[in-house]
Amino acid sequence: MALGDGSTLLGLAEAAGFSSAELVSSLQGDGTPFLGTAEGAASQGVPSFVLGGRVLSGAQPVERLLASLRQAVAAAARTSATRIAVPAERVPAPGKRILIEAEGKSLVLFNVDGRFHAIDDGCPHQGASLCGGRLEGEVIQCCAHGLRFNLNTGYLLGSTQLRVNCYPVERAGDQLHIVIPQEDAASCTR
Ligand code: FES
Repeated sequence: MALGDGSTLLGLAEAAGFSSAELVSSLQGDGTPFLGTAEGAASQGVPSFVLGGRVLSGAQPVERLLASLRQAVAAAARTSATRIAVPAERVPAPGKRILIEAEGKSLVLFNVDGRFHAIDDGCPHQGASLCGGRLEGEVIQCCAHGLRFNLNTGYLLGSTQLRVNCYPVERAGDQLHIVIPQEDAASCTR
């Protein structure tokens, strides 16, 4: 196992709870060690870390590095995400759902007792629409072959092998926003 190896680094990042899909584009260099030139302390020979534009100088506890990494990843995701606005008049009532076509995607927005969940409308099994599925609590059952998916995680019940994409839903007054990460927004417009 080589520490500079891309797959090793992605494996370590996943073990620490990061999404390798979000980080893979950061590992496109040729493995040449970083020699700082423009980031102040990074050029001075002390251990130095540049995370999301912030410099942490000197040796840092693992917990602090991890927290800073999480902040940088979250900030990058926030600034690069696409937000699909759902006007107040379209926000579903408790127990209801609506189909939303936007940004080249078909999404289903559910209201489960005041908690909102947004997922892709395509079942990850064979692509059937999930919008008309049977909703039981926070579980949606596909009409086609009966597979059931947890709306919080997107995973098929009892499995982590099959998953429907689910998206954060933010509230701004009466309006909602469905947050589409950059990689998903890019792939749906290709
Ligand atoms: S297409 Fe949904 S369970 Fe088969």
